[in-house]
Amino acid sequence: MEEKILQVEDLQVTFTTFGGVVQAVRGVTFDLHKGETLAIVGESGCGKSVTSNAIMGLIPQPPGKITNGKVVFKGKDLTSFKKSDLRKIQGLDVSMIFQDPMTALNPTMTIGEQLTEGLRTHHKISRVEAKTKAIEMLLLVGISNPSERLNQYPHQFSGGMRQRIVIAIALICEPTLLIADEPTTALDVTIQAQILELFEEIQKKTGVSIILITHDLGVVAKIADRIAVMYAGKIIEIGTKREIFYEPTHPYTKGLLNSVPRLDLVEEELEPIEGTPPDLFAPPAGCAFTARCPYAMEVCNLVYPVATSLSEKHKVDCWLQDERAKGLFN
Ligand SMILES: Nc1ncnc2c1ncn2[C@@H]1O[C@H](COP(=O)(O)OP(=O)(O)OP(=O)(O)O)[C@@H](O)[C@H]1O
Ligand code: SF4
Ligand SMILES: [Mg+2]
Repeated sequence: MEEKILQVEDLQVTFTTFGGVVQAVRGVTFDLHKGETLAIVGESGCGKSVTSNAIMGLIPQPPGKITNGKVVFKGKDLTSFKKSDLRKIQGLDVSMIFQDPMTALNPTMTIGEQLTEGLRTHHKISRVEAKTKAIEMLLLVGISNPSERLNQYPHQFSGGMRQRIVIAIALICEPTLLIADEPTTALDVTIQAQILELFEEIQKKTGVSIILITHDLGVVAKIADRIAVMYAGKIIEIGTKREIFYEPTHPYTKGLLNSVPRLDLVEEELEPIEGTPPDLFAPPAGCAFTARCPYAMEVCNLVYPVATSLSEKHKVDCWLQDERAKGLFN
């Protein structure tokens, strides 16, 4: 049986602002197994980063608040942890690569210092042992001459190499779970591909479970085992990579796939999804995709659809899957 590392149950996160309360994450549920890569995809502002920050215990409170739900990591609910207990697992058992590349590395410290900082905080190991481990990690992420490189500063590395170092820092304490928030967005296509290969290699070697956050389905096609599609603070479809790419069911998922460049289609055939997501200050009671959905029915805006299981791993929230709607559109 597959070992469950993480269970996120009905997670809800709000932010109180001058304009009102933003319902950033509105009941997200998923799980993650050992050695698995789950990709979370969706448009800007749909709640991907807030979900991952909530898992890491990094929601600034206030203005943020986890108003409901559980984040069960290795059997323990992290939402009930004290800050000091959370700090013990952050960077050690659960590690994160942040979306903002500017804040990822400290320009005033050598990369050797940055690599060994977490190691020396969490494990009582000597300077020499920490240095040996740092060299090992740099080699693992494909940086040559590691002993000389340890004494250099971030600006002495290219963008792709800096991202490799960020990955090395995230993995040096051998975490069980790695959350990577848009890890390749700032990189050019060739380097992106290399970094994705690196994730795959490292996962094979270490068995780390990965949550990969991206708005780019092209990235997901390479390394995800399962894909969760988020829209306006909810997961509206989740399934294996095959199910999402070949049997997409939610109209939004289909729209996302149609807006991704594919080798077998000429560029003119791409169809961006018309319209914009709803205001998260006052999201509709029903399906948040209603205003953009070509199949929207009266009920859609009023009542949220019950999740339909299409297979063991494939679930979708859409009224079209209700028996009573079958045949209406074909
Ligand atoms: N600190 C904050 N204060 C107020 N609102 C916030 C805060 N952080 C996030 N939000 C809101 O929460 C919602 C979800 O944001 P989030 O950053 O998770 O989006 P995202 O899916 O990661 O988007 P992107 O692809 O642009 O990174 C957005 O409406 C955003 O404005
Ligand atoms: S629930 Fe209705 S509006 Fe939402 S995606 Fe399905 S058909 Fe479209
Ligand atoms: Mg984000």
